[in-house]
Amino acid sequence: MDADRIFDRANQLIKAYFSEQGSGRFLSYKDPGELEAVLDLEAPGGDWSRVFDWIELYLAYSVKTNHKGFVNRMWAGANLPSVLGEMVAAVSNTSACTYESAPVSTLMEKYMIRQMLDLVGFRNGEGQMTTGSSNANLLAMMAARNERLPEVKTCGLGRQPELVALVSADAHYSMEKAANVLGIGTGNLVKVPVTDRGDMDMAVLESRLGEVLEAGALPFFVGGTAGTTVRGAYDSITGLLRLREKYGFWLHIDAAWGGAVIVSDTLKEVYLRGIADVDSLTWDFHKMLGTSLICNLFLINNRPGILGRTTGSKDDTYLFHGGGTGSPARDLGSVSLQCGRRVDSLKWFLDWKFFGKEEFGRRVEAALELCQYAENRVLASGALELVFPRTSFNICFRYKTSENRSNELNLAIREQLYHEGRSLVGYARDGDRLFLRLLLAGQSLGTRDIDNYFSTLIQTGKSLEGDNYG
Ligand SMILES: Cc1ncc(COP(=O)(O)O)c(C=O)c1O
Repeated sequence: MDADRIFDRANQLIKAYFSEQGSGRFLSYKDPGELEAVLDLEAPGGDWSRVFDWIELYLAYSVKTNHKGFVNRMWAGANLPSVLGEMVAAVSNTSACTYESAPVSTLMEKYMIRQMLDLVGFRNGEGQMTTGSSNANLLAMMAARNERLPEVKTCGLGRQPELVALVSADAHYSMEKAANVLGIGTGNLVKVPVTDRGDMDMAVLESRLGEVLEAGALPFFVGGTAGTTVRGAYDSITGLLRLREKYGFWLHIDAAWGGAVIVSDTLKEVYLRGIADVDSLTWDFHKMLGTSLICNLFLINNRPGILGRTTGSKDDTYLFHGGGTGSPARDLGSVSLQCGRRVDSLKWFLDWKFFGKEEFGRRVEAALELCQYAENRVLASGALELVFPRTSFNICFRYKTSENRSNELNLAIREQLYHEGRSLVGYARDGDRLFLRLLLAGQSLGTRDIDNYFSTLIQTGKSLEGDNYG
């Protein structure tokens, strides 16, 4: 098969998938054993027809994340300009580590980072795209550690004071991983309780900071969250800045999910007041804004040269010839924790140019209105109940039934809808209570879809209650 025919066939399959992804079921579910048999993973390859068989199988049994029933994650589907960017990045196959090997992507990444530094309001800032907010949280903690104790980079933690990082009890689990990787220790990650609204309790944070100092340790890092993973709560940035004034820690904001409000001047003011003064920020463009996975940006405020000081290596001169050790002047890879880097900037740049801040801003405002609509539907329904008041984009609710069978029934509803390929929603626990976490990241969702979603869920709940739980 020549390249023309290969691309024609691939194009046919992709187009068919793309046009059908919103209709029918979002998944043809099979148990792992059954699916493994269908995939015939042990079969010999070696020819193009087998390659296309596996591509067809992949598409046939994948979760259609652009489907209106996919309300499970912080992303759903992807913007078309970014999908094209991803395809072009795949065919041109290079690593975004040096200008030499990736000239266009390097300039696009630098351009986008400058745009984002301006948008957030950071001065003399630096930034880079990473593999996601988990790794950006790690990088933030590492930069904070190395700024506070510069000898750690060469001498390790051995003779240093004990370092303590503080985050919300509802912070993303990647903070714990960062504390582990960086030798701080998960036991030295203090989890500060949250208020009824899900944001970090500032009074408790202050008393924990005092306790850490009293114990002779160094509270070097506080990680606030803008949009917590489960409840969508925003920590008070102004409250955190006041405490930073007094205690001098590095203030990082994990805005992986809730950073999307930065593109709306109105919502930025409501949710992120003070953001221009924090020390660092991570934000995933691949979440609410819909750029194809993965598209992260990590920004540091007003510390020129910090990425180089934090991540630079003196053994990298075989690769980076353009600007000296740890200098991002030419080669972005020289200040990355990776060597090879995927080209993520092209898809991001294309999305940004195509939609622009205004359109993205309208989208986020519309998404918030839709969340409010969904919350009102839960409140108005006798069959559902909110588990937490909604503070932003996350709707935590459950099907109402007696407390002793609530967890089992809610889980059963979710599983049934998933296996039938009708919808997929996440779930979490608050102590012993299990609840469903509805996330409306899909760009094509409207109020009628929300109505349909809840009515199917309620019908399923009623029928399961009748069958097994009555
Ligand atoms: C608040 C928060 N931070 C960090 C992450 C991790 O982001 P990533 O998947 O890009 O590593 C998530 C993911 O859901 C999140 O919700």
